[in-house]
Amino acid sequence: MRPPTLHVLFCLCSCLTLVRPFDWPAAHIMPSARISKIQALIAAAMDGQTKIPPGSGSYSVGCTDLMFKYTNKSTFLRLYYPSQDDERSDTIWIPNKEYFFGLSKFLGTHWVMGKILNLLFGSMTTPASWNSPLRTGEKYPLIVFSHGLGAFRTIYSAIGIDLASHGFIVATVEHRDESASATYYFKDQSAAEIGKKTWLYLKTLKKEEEEVPLRNEQVHQRAKECSQALNLILCVDCETKNVLDLEFDIKQLKDSIDRNKIAIIGHSFGGATVIQALNDDQRFRCGIALDAWMLPLAEEVLSNFSQPLFFINSERFQYPANIIKMKKCDSPGKERKMITIRGSVHQNFADFTFATGKVFGFMFTLKGTIDSYIAIDLSNKASMAFLQKHLELQKDFDQWDDFIEGKNEHLIPGTNIDTTSQHVALQNSTGTETQNLD
Ligand SMILES: *[C@@H]1O[C@H](CO)[C@@H](O)[C@H](O)[C@H]1NC(C)=O
Ligand SMILES: *[C@@H]1O[C@H](CO)[C@@H](O)[C@H](O)[C@H]1NC(C)=O
Ligand SMILES: *[C@@H]1O[C@H](CO)[C@@H](O)[C@H](O)[C@H]1NC(C)=O
Repeated sequence: MRPPTLHVLFCLCSCLTLVRPFDWPAAHIMPSARISKIQALIAAAMDGQTKIPPGSGSYSVGCTDLMFKYTNKSTFLRLYYPSQDDERSDTIWIPNKEYFFGLSKFLGTHWVMGKILNLLFGSMTTPASWNSPLRTGEKYPLIVFSHGLGAFRTIYSAIGIDLASHGFIVATVEHRDESASATYYFKDQSAAEIGKKTWLYLKTLKKEEEEVPLRNEQVHQRAKECSQALNLILCVDCETKNVLDLEFDIKQLKDSIDRNKIAIIGHSFGGATVIQALNDDQRFRCGIALDAWMLPLAEEVLSNFSQPLFFINSERFQYPANIIKMKKCDSPGKERKMITIRGSVHQNFADFTFATGKVFGFMFTLKGTIDSYIAIDLSNKASMAFLQKHLELQKDFDQWDDFIEGKNEHLIPGTNIDTTSQHVALQNSTGTETQNLD
């Protein structure tokens, strides 16, 4: 990714310093004194790899978008799948400028920032062939994926593509609970026919508005949307049509999904969604919560669900109140695992970590001290080992079983966070989040 002019980047950096980085929920503001230092580092910042990694497995990977039905109750998702080998163009990573406007709103910046982001990243692609036909003749396990706050369906492609390259079908839903930076739907059939999108942007918390009730309501809606996506993909009513006029033939999916091998993965708010969805829908046989943000979840849910759950955490994002809530999921006889990736940050799980150079990424906590490619590779391999165990797959992912136990130089078994001292245990999440993330 090369910006059109250096000038644009100067402006981008100056704007970014005034805002919150992507490392939500905590805000941290960069002092403006750093601006000149940042500008001096721009040249260096653009060095290094800025590419989303291709899958490490043996299947070619295709990608398409599916939207079922109309209104804000419709289901919208991006699908990654094993594809027939054919030479098609790569997938546009963030396909509409409105997503960049949404991101600029999420970051609390002027809308001009959205224009700049669009200029910088609007033509970036991700290595999956767009609308390539599904590779048939095999039944694949199905993963539903839930995005984080301020994110949307397209920015977890490094995970979706890698899993698809190992023989999974991955459906990343775009939530309509106003937690996505932006999303769109069609009001009715005629709106869809003329391509008249209705955009729905992130809802920001008002001053004095209580966070927990809103987030809890949202996590319930998110879990419902994951179940609804599953219903439609499995073609329960078999009337399912893609509202988006795309070439990909969804009928092929019907015989290519192993209906007994379904799991759910999510990042941050999506990690909380994983737990809510396991609780609400027994078809999800296990779950993987990537750097989960636990605040949205009601206490009674934590001890209620019984499917296996794997927490993969970053080192920088976690804080005692969050880990304490994760530990409340523990109970004898239930499979619970937790590992932490050394030197990683919250955004190591989303594609933004690959969209910038090293220095730039580090400054805006899109990258940690660990190489982003190593971090995502470990997370994906640990995930696949866990999925093989609990979906009973006949693959060779058990070669990575050690990662589930945190046995690797880049992994910590369990967590880096101390939740035992009384001082720490009494702190509330607001206090500790800020402290932990700076
Ligand atoms: C969804 O649509 C319904 C009916 O038009 C409306 O009442 C509701 O506020 C909408 N929700 C959002 C989040 O826009
Ligand atoms: C607890 O889990 C069961 C399924 O195991 C589910 O039917 C029930 O609704 C859950 N309870 C709550 C409070 O969510
Ligand atoms: C949480 O902790 C911070 C400082 O540690 C304090 O200012 C705030 O009032 C606390 N909030 C609640 C709800 O206890």
